[in-house]
Amino acid sequence: MKSIPTTIVIFGASGDLTWRKLVPALYNSFKKGRLSECINVVGFARRPDTDETFRAVLRDGVVKFSAESFDATVWENFAGRLHYFQGNLDAAADFLKLETTLQALEGGPSNRLYYLATAPEYFPIVVGELGAAGMAKQAEGISKNSQPNGVDAWRRIVIEKPFGRDLASAQELNRAVHAVFDESQVYRIDHYLGKETAQNILFFRFANTIFEPVWNRRYVDNVQITVAESVDVGHRAGYYDTAGVMRDMFQNHLLQLLALVAMEAPSSFSADAVRNEKAKVFESIRPVPLAETVRGQYAGYREAEGVAPGSQTPTFAALKLNVDNWRWQGVPFYLRSGKALRRKTSEIIIEFQRPPHLMFRLPKGWDFTPNILSLCIQPDEGIHLRFEAKLPDSVQEMRSVDMDFHYSSLFSGSLPEAYERLLLEALDGDASLFTRSDGIEASWKMVDPILQGWEAHNDPPLAVYPVGSWGPGEAEQLLARDGRRWRLGCIDKVPEVPEEPEEEGERRN
Ligand code: BG6
Repeated sequence: MKSIPTTIVIFGASGDLTWRKLVPALYNSFKKGRLSECINVVGFARRPDTDETFRAVLRDGVVKFSAESFDATVWENFAGRLHYFQGNLDAAADFLKLETTLQALEGGPSNRLYYLATAPEYFPIVVGELGAAGMAKQAEGISKNSQPNGVDAWRRIVIEKPFGRDLASAQELNRAVHAVFDESQVYRIDHYLGKETAQNILFFRFANTIFEPVWNRRYVDNVQITVAESVDVGHRAGYYDTAGVMRDMFQNHLLQLLALVAMEAPSSFSADAVRNEKAKVFESIRPVPLAETVRGQYAGYREAEGVAPGSQTPTFAALKLNVDNWRWQGVPFYLRSGKALRRKTSEIIIEFQRPPHLMFRLPKGWDFTPNILSLCIQPDEGIHLRFEAKLPDSVQEMRSVDMDFHYSSLFSGSLPEAYERLLLEALDGDASLFTRSDGIEASWKMVDPILQGWEAHNDPPLAVYPVGSWGPGEAEQLLARDGRRWRLGCIDKVPEVPEEPEEEGERRN
């Protein structure tokens, strides 16, 4: 097959995402030889930049965010492929001009990956303009498997989060996208799916024999997902105050992690087989009573610039979910996430049931620790299995011990950034790590009633928690009521390292 050039067009190219994530990811793939030699990246934004000023800013981003891999010669080679296009996102004429510019750059049939890194209100606008300018059309009869004349020229679109702010707006956005692009051309980003450790969940579960037989209601007592951040909202308060933790973290990242933990084995590793199984998980989540939700706001949040006076926006939430299916009936899933918490950690805990009978003579008041499997998504990526062992030289005493696996000690080099993998997959036409329209709508269906209860009925009331804590006491009570407690298996041996705060003017949705 003759390979044809590929152009990546980034809309919103002057934003933080392009500088901080997208271009460093593309640069790293280029350096590793994973990007075709005939690739061009065109940044579309309103500012009056030139190719040179655009490249200089992006160079700073790579130096800053990919310091380890920066190489001036590789950069020079890569930078020649970066181009700037000044235009307005809602000006039809600018899209026609863009098409002409792209054609001149490409000099013949070319694949195109459009990347929506704009503010979300522009998503339907850009999609509409691409449609009106005829830029979404793939050449007749050309698909990945049929390449008449040896040429294959696809058009794909990557859409950043947030994908809607509730079910109705997500459906509306899906309709707007489908009016122009076929679902097979659409790649909705959730960067958590690009994290190595999140991808590893399916390998851990389904490339091993020993875990899957106990991965169900017969052995698992409860599942916990914690995505804790120690940073506060920083300079993103303007966006964050209109979103809050449920839209910012739960509807996407936490529910995607939940789906990976709870889903059945797909029959193949194809995008649709994987996403079919995830969609079934979302559909099986029982509506969550408001009494099983906690919402909190860190003390001092309202003083941040950009936050509305008296804001009720939650910066922390915790929920108890039930997945009504054969595998998980009766196993609670506890989810929590928040900002300005004690430590940064994203982890999944599988807490196993107590053994049916303990015949050992344990000291009075013995606090039995169940077997716990911790999947450490970040920052110390790895897996730990906690089990009981007899304390040497004792009669019948036990200690909890860990079997540990740390990526850092077994695999050389740092883990690639999520965006690196995601961009390569989108270029490769594999949508397994992207969300499908039905999955996104199903996740909003689950989240919407909670948001309505919180926003319309102020139920439960917002609890204020101190910065640097683990969130409001109500979150502890949510589990204590069930005789359980939150567990953290990944960070207890890791020294506290302050999380890098986001910088002035940065926007990352
Ligand atoms: C983003 C949220 O999607 O994820 C941010 O908008 C959050 O508020 C970020 O800080 C967390 O990502 P990570 O990869 O640092 O855990």
